[in-house]
Amino acid sequence: MRVLVTGGAGFIGSHTTLSLLEQGHDVLVVDDLSNSSEESLRRVAELAGREPGFVKANVRDEQALDAAFADFKPEAVIHFAGWKAVGESTQIPLVYYRENVGSTITLLETMAKHDCHTIVFSSSATVYGELSEPPFVEDAPTGATNPYGRTKHMVEQILTDVAAADPQLRVGILRYFNPIGAHESGRIGEDPKGIPNNLLPFVAQVAAGRREKLMVFGDDYPTPDGTGTRDYIHVVDLAAGHLAALDYLGNNDGCHVWNLGTGKPNSVLEVVHAFEAASGVEIPYEIVARRPGDVASSYANVDRAHQELGWRAEKSVADACADTYRWQSANPNGFGEG
Ligand code: UD1
Repeated sequence: MRVLVTGGAGFIGSHTTLSLLEQGHDVLVVDDLSNSSEESLRRVAELAGREPGFVKANVRDEQALDAAFADFKPEAVIHFAGWKAVGESTQIPLVYYRENVGSTITLLETMAKHDCHTIVFSSSATVYGELSEPPFVEDAPTGATNPYGRTKHMVEQILTDVAAADPQLRVGILRYFNPIGAHESGRIGEDPKGIPNNLLPFVAQVAAGRREKLMVFGDDYPTPDGTGTRDYIHVVDLAAGHLAALDYLGNNDGCHVWNLGTGKPNSVLEVVHAFEAASGVEIPYEIVARRPGDVASSYANVDRAHQELGWRAEKSVADACADTYRWQSANPNGFGEG
């Protein structure tokens, strides 16, 4: 199948592009490289033994997108491109609405114009907010507590509305829990710019000596060890979930929502200890105040993805820590160093 992948040079996008190529699909990546590097695509090509096409463009660029569709004639789209830092989204909300919501509207209009009727969208477990208790089921109430989360929630609503109006459209909304890990080759992985916001990249940089210690945001949550618990899913499992969703949409119309997680919560300290075991490196840490906006616990009910997609996460947090450490050690400056 010909699959157009927006944001395909990023962390989850690059791993999914690799899986698509490995499964024999043709891929065109559209990415403006605002938070990613073309080097990731060179490495994807090296691992897959063949190249994805690449267009350097923002998804809001109607002309560039139109030309890409006219040329590549995609049969399906996977839409990863977007901004994703919660704190930043509270400072520059309009950029988030423009980049995340605006781009999706342009994309859907371009798809309709070019007779492309299948889209898989990167949503987030952040849409469950604090409206219900984990494990979250897909039918739980949704909302959001910050501009980033609201863009994900809005795009879910837009997709639902557009699918209701257009019976030809097939939509898969994937709610990711906490993606971690790297490809086991150590050639591609997460390469955050600046100080990492997320736990695993920060821990990896402490292990590499780039940061002195981890700040653990709160140890007074109502969890077994007091630190926050999350559902950490290996990025290679996550990539496989996208292929399973595309398969499903090949045989089913309508708009569908699936959680992609492991169903198992792990605490911050459990992740730290798993990383120490995988790397053999001690991770110094200090308990500090809770981070505003954090919830105590978030993890998925994964029954629907298993029943409908035949998909399940297979890799453990220990696997993800070993793969992250391999990636970090081999590429201390991410994709910045060849
Ligand atoms: C965060 C976002 C979420 C987004 C996701 C995608 C927030 C509040 N949530 O999820 O909306 O979809 O990233 O990237 O930003 N932690 C530490 N020290 C650190 C970093 C994290 O103790 O330096 C803890 C956090 O308090 C949390 C856990 O580690 O308990 C995971 O944090 P993180 O990796 O940032 O993910 P989320 O907050 O779950």
